[in-house]
Amino acid sequence: PKIYAITPTHYRAVQKAELTRLSHTLMLVPNLHWVVVEDAESKTDLVTKLLAKTGMSYSHLNAATPKSWKPKAKEPRWVKPRGVLQRNTALQWLRDNVSPNEDGVIYFVDDDNSYSLEVFEEMRYLKGVGVWPVGLVGGLMVERPKINAEGKVTGWLTVWSPNRPFAIDMAGFAINLKLFHSKPNGKFSFESEKGYQESELLKHFVGSLNELEVKADNCTKVFVWHTRTEQANLAQEIKLRKENKPRSDIGIEV
Ligand code: UGA
Ligand code: MN
Repeated sequence: PKIYAITPTHYRAVQKAELTRLSHTLMLVPNLHWVVVEDAESKTDLVTKLLAKTGMSYSHLNAATPKSWKPKAKEPRWVKPRGVLQRNTALQWLRDNVSPNEDGVIYFVDDDNSYSLEVFEEMRYLKGVGVWPVGLVGGLMVERPKINAEGKVTGWLTVWSPNRPFAIDMAGFAINLKLFHSKPNGKFSFESEKGYQESELLKHFVGSLNELEVKADNCTKVFVWHTRTEQANLAQEIKLRKENKPRSDIGIEV
């Protein structure tokens, strides 16, 4: 089965570093198709060239987040959901371009997380929806599904909003492609409650928690981390600009 990895990405100083790091992980995963969706009015040269250089199987799309939903620098991170329109654009692309008979699985791969190659092999043979722990998220070392003696999911070991139907980060689950194709309404929404993006999507594909496929050694192993890169310190760059001096990156892509 093929893994369809969906990555929303947006411009900031560290974007090329993030995408380089991520691509060098994904290049090591057999039978993976990378669907990269830029949060931009048009496809940028930076991402276009980076993707071409990987030699990977990929699709390059773009969809700009409407201004009213674009996160602002000064507001708290949780005020606006990120990547909603870009992930929906990728899901629509899959519905339009990938045969419902194909064996595959869909996984949401943010551009700043850290992925072990193991997570991809955990998800590859899912028949429905699979779940596993995510490290460094929700203010904890790890968030994970609560597993009973029969090896079934009974709830969620999280502190922030544990009563969500699916209290799991975007990096903690994947969906079988045939199941995905059977539910044409499954998508994300700007309108859902804060922190409910995962639940918004998964409610279309999962009737009850005991249907979930428990991966990563009964959810005892961490194969993905919700790392976040700090903003680049560009203090001197800003100073150059104020002094009307040439910027450091003229003629060189960073
Ligand atoms: C957490 C979750 O891990 C994300 O999956 C979830 O989308 C996000 O919260 C949310 O609040 O909606 P976090 O690290 O806070 O993640 O979010 P980012 O990494 O900043 O963004 C998630 C993805 O969306 C990234 O791939 C990022 O490049 C992309 N993004 C972010 C955009 O495409 N446009 C933006 O304006 C911001
Ligand atoms: Mn992130």
